[in-house]
Amino acid sequence: MKNYKTSIFTGMRPTSGITIGNLIGAIKPTLDVLEKESSKRPMLFVADLHSLTTNEGKDTQGNVISVLKDYIAAGLDPEKADLFVQSQIADEISKMTIYLSRLVTVSELLRIPTLKEKIRSGQSEMTVNGLLALYPVMMASDILLQGSEYVPVGKDQYPHMEITCEIVRKFNKKYGDTLLEPKPLDQGEPVNILSLTGDGSKMSKTNPNGAIILSDDIDVSLKKVKRAKTAFAGEMNDDLDSLLQIAKYVSTEEEGREFDRLIEEHMEGKQVMGDFKNLLMSSLERFLKDFQSKKAEISDDYVLELVKKGGEKARSNAREVLEEVEKAMGMRFV
Ligand code: TYM
Repeated sequence: MKNYKTSIFTGMRPTSGITIGNLIGAIKPTLDVLEKESSKRPMLFVADLHSLTTNEGKDTQGNVISVLKDYIAAGLDPEKADLFVQSQIADEISKMTIYLSRLVTVSELLRIPTLKEKIRSGQSEMTVNGLLALYPVMMASDILLQGSEYVPVGKDQYPHMEITCEIVRKFNKKYGDTLLEPKPLDQGEPVNILSLTGDGSKMSKTNPNGAIILSDDIDVSLKKVKRAKTAFAGEMNDDLDSLLQIAKYVSTEEEGREFDRLIEEHMEGKQVMGDFKNLLMSSLERFLKDFQSKKAEISDDYVLELVKKGGEKARSNAREVLEEVEKAMGMRFV
């Protein structure tokens, strides 16, 4: 493959409640790139096969449509992007995952931080399902089949991006130059929005007490902000930094300046965290109302029509890449 086929590629698993962390980690950087370079055409997908790795597989199809609407409600112009669902190209993904699995060892898979985390939090190597161990290989398949150049993801996904690049290097060394490594998107610091409970964990819907879930009742989210951990006057910590990232994401320009002023005063030792939270709650309330009403206006038929088109493009990209991969590996007989 000589050129990248997709300039910006990212996706989410279809969970019932995506969080503001998902938006800031993956969608915001995508929209930021588009603001600077409107000629780029991103491709966003819903990783429904990936949700089979956990129990979230049960209500997958309803959630797929919901996540597609989330992308649009979050500000993605559907006319200027391609949207698809992973299972639309399940055949291609499955083949690519088989081929790429050849290039990783079982021990490498077991060392992956996301799997180790699952094993630490209750599961064991005996109970973890095989597909969960293959999660990063399937993710590499998603990325490589679309010939992706930049892949904006949150910090938790960085180890998976490293494995993807490692797989490309191994593949090219073994079978000749075929695949292109995705490049890191310069997002500054890796994005990791923390749980509002202040326990240091990542904001995630599996810990709903500390998560702003976009589809939740807005008052529930505002109460979580009210209880959120901040920092002592004069100090900055990761909890306050996360709140500030949320604040910047949901605020208008004028509110953004007000947040800057409050943080300056806070660092000078003034007691302004009450004002900071009040402003955050009012910005967040407006953001969530706007998000939810935009989402409510999007019909199922509309998104289904979009993914029909997007799916064709994704399939065509995937088949082209697969053909090159199979030729390189000597797996194409006709
Ligand atoms: P998922 O649904 O778990 O997460 C989707 C995206 O949200 C980011 N994210 C966060 N970022 C910052 N702070 C947080 N608290 C936070 N929580 C979630 C994740 O890093 C991710 O970018 N494995 C992917 C889905 C996927 C994928 C792919 C993505 C499958 N194949 C290929 C890109 C390219 C995931 O984590 O989904």
